[in-house]
Amino acid sequence: MPAITATAPGKIILFGEHAVVYGRPAIAVPVTQVQAKVIITFEPTAAPGAVRLVSADTGLDCHLNDLPADHPLAMAVTLTAARLGIPRFPALRLMINSTIPIAAGLGSGAAVTAAMVRALSAAVGHTLNNEQISQIAFQVDQKYHGTPSGIDNNVIAYAQPIYFVRGQPLQPLRAGQPFTIVIGNTGVASPTGAVVGDVRRRWQAEPDHYELLFNQIGEIAAQARVAIETGAIPALGNLMTRNHALLQSLDVSSAALDRLVETALASDASGAKLCGGGRGGNMIALVSPETAQDVSAALLGAGAVSTITTTVR
Ligand code: PMV
Repeated sequence: MPAITATAPGKIILFGEHAVVYGRPAIAVPVTQVQAKVIITFEPTAAPGAVRLVSADTGLDCHLNDLPADHPLAMAVTLTAARLGIPRFPALRLMINSTIPIAAGLGSGAAVTAAMVRALSAAVGHTLNNEQISQIAFQVDQKYHGTPSGIDNNVIAYAQPIYFVRGQPLQPLRAGQPFTIVIGNTGVASPTGAVVGDVRRRWQAEPDHYELLFNQIGEIAAQARVAIETGAIPALGNLMTRNHALLQSLDVSSAALDRLVETALASDASGAKLCGGGRGGNMIALVSPETAQDVSAALLGAGAVSTITTTVR
């Protein structure tokens, strides 16, 4: 049988991270320049159910049975089998290759799960829809970062820009005018779960103060939605920079993120902010196609380990 390949993109949160965990709206878009890719080959001589998992990026090479049941890769396999209503998969080798940096706010975990679910279901002749794929990625995410809002799994499974409110059906978003974003990577790994947990403790200690900050972030996301849909791109830059200031107030920024945001603003970006969980990972800057290269060079000069330029449509 021929090999099966499935992919899922990375993502960035344009507006509303953290506040989205508390029911405020947020905006996320896929980043197709980076992706998780899963290739399945069949091993007809091995016993049914023998699933070998290989990930060149993390150095993993083992059988499903060797992993703890709550390992994210094991969960992706068992939850997919349960969703399909099958007791086991045929003997196969599942190879994961991802160009999405890990623990960097670009959705690598959800993308690996989504690509695995797509490939595994195709391997037994089924197609799960985006909603079903999103749900499995959410369940895996829940295990690993406690109280995920659901924005990552949705934007990655549907692979389109979304306006997202926790617990509500996702709302696809269409940009009235395409716009360009440069993503700058601090190179500092920062697991989202730890930062989300920290924000929760602060919110519990000072609920009124934090609710106010979440409201302000939510209002910015709502305004940004209108700006994106109507193609009012110049307004977006200011909203991004204001969102960053509020994320600083939540204490989820870092010296490295602030330096890259300031560098972007001092070069030609019209707005910039950290994106995702924060304390490390990536930041984003709103640029024009003409200024993208200069801003990217400035970020690399200020310590970014890599940059990605992407267009939102
Ligand atoms: O670090 P990321 O890109 O996975 O983003 C997490 C976004 C948060 O709002 C901080 C958490 C969530 O579940 O929405």
